[in-house]
Amino acid sequence: MIKLTVNGKSLELDADPNMPLLYALRDIAGMTGTKFGCGVGQCGACTVHINGSPTRSCLTPVSAVQGTKITTIEGLADGDTLHPLQQAWLDNSVPQCGYCQSGQLMSAAALLAGNPSPSDADIDTAMQGNICRCGTYPRIKKAIKQAGV
Ligand code: FES
Repeated sequence: MIKLTVNGKSLELDADPNMPLLYALRDIAGMTGTKFGCGVGQCGACTVHINGSPTRSCLTPVSAVQGTKITTIEGLADGDTLHPLQQAWLDNSVPQCGYCQSGQLMSAAALLAGNPSPSDADIDTAMQGNICRCGTYPRIKKAIKQAGV
C-alpha cells in the first residue's frame, strides 16, 4: 500500500510504486481535477504541489512522494472559499477550453505563495512550463496580477 497525504487527508492506495502520481490520483483516488496532457513532462497540465513546490505529477513515481504534503486543484480552495486566484480566474474569464487550467492555477498559486507581487517577468518565468493551446496567456497574467497584492 502507498500512503499519501493529499489535501490534508491520508490516503492508502493500492498502487504500483512506480505508477506516476498523476495516474494514482486520477485512476485510483478518483481525483480527476489534475489533468493528463502529454504524459512526458512537457505541458504542465498535471501540475500539483509537493510540499508547496509545483511538480509534474506525470513524471513523479507515487512511491517518491510518500511522507510529503501533496496539494491538488481540489485542495486549492479553503472549504467553500475560493483561492484568490480561482476568483480572479472567474472574474477575468480566463479559461477557453479549460483543460490546462488546473495546472495553470497550481503553478500560479505556488508563484504567489512565494512572491505575492510578481512582475511580468516573474510571471513569465514561473508560468513558462504551462502550455495553453487556446492561448489564454494574457488573461492568465491579468488574473495573477489581480490575485496578487
Ligand atoms: Fe505532465 Fe504534460 S501531463 S507535463
